[in-house]
Amino acid sequence: MKTARIIGTGSYLPERVMPNSELETMVDTSDEWIVARTGIKQRHVAARDEFTSDLAEHASRRAIQAAGIQPTDLDLIIVATTTPDLVFPSVACLLQNRLGIHTACPAFDIQAVCAGFVYAMDVVHRFFQTSGCRRALVVGAETFTRILDWTDRNTCILFGDGAGAVVLEASDEPGIISTHLHADGKYHELLNVSSGVSSNYSQVLRGEAYTQMQGSEVFKWAVKALGDIVDETMEHNGMQKSDIDWLVPHQANIRIIAATAKKLNMSMDQVIVTVDRHSNTSAASIPMAFDEGVRDGRIKRGDTIVMEGFGGGFAWGSALLRY
Ligand code: ACO
Repeated sequence: MKTARIIGTGSYLPERVMPNSELETMVDTSDEWIVARTGIKQRHVAARDEFTSDLAEHASRRAIQAAGIQPTDLDLIIVATTTPDLVFPSVACLLQNRLGIHTACPAFDIQAVCAGFVYAMDVVHRFFQTSGCRRALVVGAETFTRILDWTDRNTCILFGDGAGAVVLEASDEPGIISTHLHADGKYHELLNVSSGVSSNYSQVLRGEAYTQMQGSEVFKWAVKALGDIVDETMEHNGMQKSDIDWLVPHQANIRIIAATAKKLNMSMDQVIVTVDRHSNTSAASIPMAFDEGVRDGRIKRGDTIVMEGFGGGFAWGSALLRY
């Protein structure tokens, strides 16, 4: 059976950088508090006329170029996003059109908030195993700042915009090894945007569809769920923690990342950290961090990697892969 092996990566950050000092002028916070409690120093914010599909396109073109293929070589596109341009069509379909692909190439979005990219990796893994898929593009892309209340210091300091992408190819060599997904919707009230198309639509029309979170509750849950998912991933594959070369975690909070690394007995030198510069970019954070590790030469061919993510739903999961 063929595996899904990553052959190219790419990412994109909007030009505008918003440092913590700018947030100090907007809400009752401080750079010291934000850095100490989250590790975040700055975030990137998309321009008004820049949409999730734009970010996704930039990241995708870089990944396609790195893979050394043409867009028309793709036969599947999956975009993980919580902040699509439109209610429909999907960002994946908009992206497919921009890339000039008009052949038999299914394209669809996945919405699992900050776990979106690992959910997408699970789906693509199954496509390669069951459908004869040969080359796929998997993207995490968000304009998360569009759903922030810039007067709420509990949330507005945490999130930013960006996109990351990987191209995967059917291979006889190891690629994605296993994926592990979980969700528990009973916690939906701890982290959500409480309006959408079929409920509280008036809030959306007023531009008040904002992220709300009970941060410390979510924090406790994230640490536990991510610790457990790491154990599950190791046990499922009969692996030792020492078999893992790199942890590429969702970038929500440096304290959550450090707790997961500790669980894996990994030093922080084996963890790709971008949260300081990118903040939490939801579904985009893992592929952006992965791209950074590949491009700066830390992640090498043959390395074994754990990706893990946790977010609204709650939804969480992991992907174990050989690069
Ligand atoms: N600046 C200054 N003080 C603040 C700020 C701020 N920006 N925000 C909160 N505080 C205050 C609180 O009001 C509170 O004050 P009090 O003690 O007087 O009541 C105090 O700081 C401590 O607040 P906590 O919420 O307990 O702080 P905590 O250490 O938990 O850090 C944080 C908050 C950073 C949000 C943390 O809880 C966290 O990272 N949570 C998890 C986030 C996450 O992983 N989300 C999942 C993915 S996101 C997604 O899926 C969309």
